[in-house]
Amino acid sequence: MNRIESIDLGDFEWPGDEENATEVPGRVFYDPAIYQREQEKIFRGEVWNFVGLEVEIPQRGDYKTVYIGDTPVVLVRGDDEQIHCWVNRCSHRNANIVLDNYGNSDGFYCVYHQWGYGLDGTLESVTFKRGLGGKGGMSECFDQTKHRPRALQVESFHGVIFASFSDEVEPLEEYLGPTVAKFMKRIFNRPIKILGRQRQHMKGNWKLYAENPRDGYHASLLHVFFATFGLFRASQEGRIHVENGGKQTCFYTFAGKEDEQAKAQGTKEAAHTYQEGKFTLEDMSLLAGKMEWDDGINLVIIDVFPIMMLQQIANVLNIRQFEPHGPDSVTVHYTFFGYEDDDEQIDEMRLKQINLIGPAGLVSMEDGLAVEIAQKGIARDSEASAVIKMGGTDVPTEGDFLGDEGPVRGFWNAYTEMMELR
Ligand code: FES
Ligand SMILES: [Fe+2]
Repeated sequence: MNRIESIDLGDFEWPGDEENATEVPGRVFYDPAIYQREQEKIFRGEVWNFVGLEVEIPQRGDYKTVYIGDTPVVLVRGDDEQIHCWVNRCSHRNANIVLDNYGNSDGFYCVYHQWGYGLDGTLESVTFKRGLGGKGGMSECFDQTKHRPRALQVESFHGVIFASFSDEVEPLEEYLGPTVAKFMKRIFNRPIKILGRQRQHMKGNWKLYAENPRDGYHASLLHVFFATFGLFRASQEGRIHVENGGKQTCFYTFAGKEDEQAKAQGTKEAAHTYQEGKFTLEDMSLLAGKMEWDDGINLVIIDVFPIMMLQQIANVLNIRQFEPHGPDSVTVHYTFFGYEDDDEQIDEMRLKQINLIGPAGLVSMEDGLAVEIAQKGIARDSEASAVIKMGGTDVPTEGDFLGDEGPVRGFWNAYTEMMELR
């Protein structure tokens, strides 16, 4: 029997009787049984998990270690440029085989008893297999060809690598859906280069972090900097797309296009946020960006279920992967990038603007706080549920109200379906 199926959730019932998920029970954010089920039904289920960028492992033997849910995996460029992804668990007694984050190697060996593995994860050598000086050796019944770390399916889309434990998952481009695929092509339209990496650890459930970028409602309210300096306001012109049963979201806004009446109303209703004129920057060069695309779009936020976010905010480009470590802990990995053909001036402009977005930046720091205060709130009133009804109860595939919680409802629709909770 599948170990996970045997986890009993008792009398768990999803609240609300709407067609879509419009309420979220507190229990999904702290219950270890839910967390266990997620590992099997979501992270090892029919999804494509973002694992890295091709540019991170360009040469044969280049590797990167990463987690899918809480399963450690290794991503390796093998022979013939093929990309492999396999579980980072020794077939002997379960130790992690690869211990560093990045590197290059001809093969791997486990430090514990030094079993050796090829780039594709094949078990190539077993120390003392035939014993020493005629003594010992592996038992006759041990068949080396039957032991190797589990290999995952790997697909790359314009240099962005995804892996899946499932053989049933749909092809990657179909999984991404047309709008996400279109905007990923737009961002990855030419060779990129990595500018740097950051990590942010939060004491909160990974789904609070998954909700956050799908939630345009908070974006123009929590982030004083966004609203004050006009990078994002719900009164701006833009679009939201929700695709593939709620799994994927794409938001974008047009620079300098705003509904003045809505802006005036926003200024009044959200006086804590709209503080134009009250806050200024000592060094305005932080905002000295340049329009890089001729479509007039200055902000794009893409969410790919379950754990990827891709952003273009002004000239900052970054891709994030979030790693749950238990029900109340998540680490977010940020990879910032530019283009290979960027000159020094553009590099410098992007690096400066990264101050907006990173974990200690003027915007993302607040999202970290939001995740932690939501987790703390749930801890004491775990029977309570969250309400997600801004913009209605439906999940429109396309909308133009940037404060709509439709994408959040879409996320929970996809989640509850995969988890068989509704
Ligand atoms: S645990 Fe890896 S060689 Fe023993
Ligand atoms: Fe945010």
